[in-house]
Amino acid sequence: MLKHTIAEVRELVKQWKKEGLTVGLVPTMGALHAGHLSLIKKAVEKCDRVVVSVFVNPIQFCPGEDLDKYPRTLEADTKLCEDAGVSIVFAPSPSEMYGEGQMRTNDFLTYVIPPFFYVNKLCGKSRVGHFDGVCTVVNKLFNIVQPDYAFFGEKDAQQLIIIKKMVKDLNIPVEIIPCPIVREESGLALSSRNKYLSENDKKEALVLSKILNNIKLCYKKGITDIESLKETAYTFLNEHHDLEYLEFMNQTNLDEVKIADDNTRVFIACRVGGVRLIDNILLGE
Ligand code: PAF
Repeated sequence: MLKHTIAEVRELVKQWKKEGLTVGLVPTMGALHAGHLSLIKKAVEKCDRVVVSVFVNPIQFCPGEDLDKYPRTLEADTKLCEDAGVSIVFAPSPSEMYGEGQMRTNDFLTYVIPPFFYVNKLCGKSRVGHFDGVCTVVNKLFNIVQPDYAFFGEKDAQQLIIIKKMVKDLNIPVEIIPCPIVREESGLALSSRNKYLSENDKKEALVLSKILNNIKLCYKKGITDIESLKETAYTFLNEHHDLEYLEFMNQTNLDEVKIADDNTRVFIACRVGGVRLIDNILLGE
């Protein structure tokens, strides 16, 4: 079940393919929660064999981000995967993926760079190089596992849109399956970073889903002008909230939108108690 090397995974997948079995991949950075489990459940239902990768990908962290602090719970993650019917948990070391040298030096040089227009906004604006790291590792995982289907959460909607574009542009033979955001009863979108929130911060963090739900309500009542919709959000913010962005984009190509329609996705990023949280909602759902 738990595999650390590319060679072991390749060997097993080769056997499955020979038997004509379909393979699903759920890429994760571990610290699995109910959000991941919903992706895994979907994958197990759809595919004969499922690989879950657990890899805290160093090249998608920007300087000053939480790479060292990022939660690592491999034993618990493996147990959860086992119970869910996963065939392989692939947990490579950074050197297995990128060689022994320092990142961006001579050992590993070939990156997949997504289109500037898709990354110069939303999370890509403050996390410069983040999506290069994501596309590069996801491409490597696709090459290692060669899945028929790969499952990504809509919580990271910009990531999902960029990966879909990469798959289309590079003719990668995999079907991307988007999976809806899983929320706590309170409305808080599940995230591995929620672990860093104090009880009070958790209450304050509800501001993200409250803003999004209220915008959707206003849209359903007929307000489509973006500036007016944004205005409704500011009334929810207080000194506990450090809003990074609130943006309205076409959900297929990340074009900025001036007048909202059913294809508009609203994206929010906000720091609460120093923890950077993101969320989004599609207005037409
Ligand atoms: O969404 C994540 O957890 C990561 O960005 C991913 C897709 C596993 C790549 O490291």
